[in-house]
Amino acid sequence: MNRDLKELRSYPMEELNKIKQELKESGKKIYDFGTGDPKEPTYERIRRALIESVPEVSQYPSVYGLKELRVSVANWVKKRFGISLDPDKNIIPSSGSKEAIFHFPLVFIDSEEEKKRVIFGTPAYPVYERGTLFANGTPTPVKLKEEDGFLLRLDRVDKSILEETKIVWINYPHNPTGAFAPKSYFEEVYGICKEYGIILCSDECYSEIYFDKKPPSALEVGIEGVVVFNSLSKRSGMTGYRSGFVAGDEKLISEYKKYRASFGVASPDFIQKAAAFAWSDETHVEERRKIFSKKRNIFLDFLDKIGLEYLYPEATFYIWIKTPDWIKPKEYVKALIKGGIIVSPGENFCSGVEIKNGECSSNYFRIALVPTVEECKEAVKVWEEIHSNLLNR
Ligand SMILES: Cc1ncc(COP(=O)(O)O)c(C=O)c1O
Repeated sequence: MNRDLKELRSYPMEELNKIKQELKESGKKIYDFGTGDPKEPTYERIRRALIESVPEVSQYPSVYGLKELRVSVANWVKKRFGISLDPDKNIIPSSGSKEAIFHFPLVFIDSEEEKKRVIFGTPAYPVYERGTLFANGTPTPVKLKEEDGFLLRLDRVDKSILEETKIVWINYPHNPTGAFAPKSYFEEVYGICKEYGIILCSDECYSEIYFDKKPPSALEVGIEGVVVFNSLSKRSGMTGYRSGFVAGDEKLISEYKKYRASFGVASPDFIQKAAAFAWSDETHVEERRKIFSKKRNIFLDFLDKIGLEYLYPEATFYIWIKTPDWIKPKEYVKALIKGGIIVSPGENFCSGVEIKNGECSSNYFRIALVPTVEECKEAVKVWEEIHSNLLNR
């Protein structure tokens, strides 16, 4: 068995997963704010586009993807960020962002070279680290701090580390914290990447789940040395379709394309046709934002009422909440889960490096606004009762 796979540690909160399982088996009403996979139906016209595209004879899809999809993505990028991309040179479709993020370092890390570090912030989506490990790169987590608004401060990383770095991952709007980065932040990070010959990888899968301001894209600050990853999963409620795109630097995209021909991860053409339609439509995305905004407001009002601190979420469907200081973080999270409110403890987003070094602790937890608006209204009542019972112990 592959050594990297063997050594991968499971998340440290096994105990909480067990409680969740027991709750399910006991038939207790559960409000699941754990996994970031919302249940709103996919827009009917997208579903229809897929059904109408299923052919009588279905053949292998190509790595390059359908021109129709690449043109639709280029049009969307132009409309949304004002950047012109060549659909043949700057864009390749992916089967969702996850596989594309995982595979990327396999192409660009040479394990014989000294320059093989991959920097990412923590708490983090785990795939930046896992892809790095399988590519024999050196995962280099950088702690994201509350006082920095959870922005990855590349300017504070040692020069000697930056010199050994091949890839930097940023992810704004951010999972799990919901942190938002302004364009000036992207400019700053890009400047450092250029100085040190680092590829800037920007995971932008939450760019369309925003409330007030529109999140910027790394493409707005430069294309040379920049690769962005976006997806229909969150924007269009299409997690099950597995459809996204990778866009940016022509040379990097061409090298990545060459590698992707080695394995069969191209999306089926009928998925790509539905995706081409999805990127061309904004009405369904606006509808989704309205729903997440309603759920977010229910929780912001509630958290303010009971006096819990959180990072104000300007985007994403997550809220990063601080446990109160009168109770141990793990105890608060455990009480919520036992009471049927499933949340993700901050430790779930530690990197393997932190776990190995015994540096994985967090006084935050994440809620994903997955249950319906009505369920959110019920859940805050249940939560309030759990909270008062803990306070009045
Ligand atoms: C930060 C981040 N990046 C990428 C993904 C992958 O999304 P998908 O593979 O569905 O496009 C997720 C999914 O939760 C995520 O949270």
